[in-house]
Amino acid sequence: MTKSWLARVASLLVLILLFGVTGMVTATEEKTAELLTKLVQTGRKVVSDHQALINDPEKGDKGFTPEFLAEKVIAEFQKSTGIDLRKPSGEDGKLLVALLEVEKEVVADAQSVINRQDMGFKGFIPAVFVRKTAEKFSSRSGIKIKFTAIDFRNARNKPDDFERKAFGVIAAPNYPKGKPYQEAMPLDGKAVIRIMFPEYAAKSCLSCHGDPKGEFDITGGKKEGQKEGDLAGALSFTIPAK
Ligand code: HEC
Repeated sequence: MTKSWLARVASLLVLILLFGVTGMVTATEEKTAELLTKLVQTGRKVVSDHQALINDPEKGDKGFTPEFLAEKVIAEFQKSTGIDLRKPSGEDGKLLVALLEVEKEVVADAQSVINRQDMGFKGFIPAVFVRKTAEKFSSRSGIKIKFTAIDFRNARNKPDDFERKAFGVIAAPNYPKGKPYQEAMPLDGKAVIRIMFPEYAAKSCLSCHGDPKGEFDITGGKKEGQKEGDLAGALSFTIPAK
């Protein structure tokens, strides 16, 4: 009798301890993923703010160079987070600088398209910038980033089982808006934290993802019929547990 009672208390204590520790550990990974999310979104915003310039058929050299992007991103990121990417510190600082480097490379790779004259829409849109940045960063760092949605356009962004499950949770009407969803799990024999940062449709997204549903947008894809504020997708992270 006494023994099984003791055993129960002991296993309860172990459980509480485990949850406590997991909670603490995932907080650091969440912080890292949150900063990386902000930096991806900052780069995307700079691309978005310059769509008219990029798609200008009158102009050859647009001046939308990797250095130009970096200058704008550094300024905006400092404004929104207080972090100066020119003076990075700690592990997160290294990751952020690596991500900025990748964003610059994505713009460098697109220079010949961006600087084409006599061509309007070029397909160098914010979503493509995000996917290329995520793919490049994932291929060379231990952290995987993916831009995904339930109603995906590009098969490369197709959600996996975890992401599908997470969308189910995030899409629930009572789920707090903007709250990241995360789970710790084993992957290839190692512990990882998977975190999804939800993205919601803004006005600027609706020319492609809005109404009328099924109509073609400027990219040649079919509009999804989203309304402002709808869950549009997520940035999905796989981070080795520390
Ligand atoms: C110019 C049209 C256009 C606009 C504006 C646009 N998107 Fe997209 N979006 C696309 C295309 C095309 C893709 C597929 C890109 C690729 O090749 O990966 C895409 C991909 C995505 C994805 C990844 C999953 C998928 O569908 O493949 C998400 C999430 C997404 N968009 C959300 C948004 C949000 C949020 C906004 C506004 C902040 C936005 N989009 C603005 C055209 C657009």
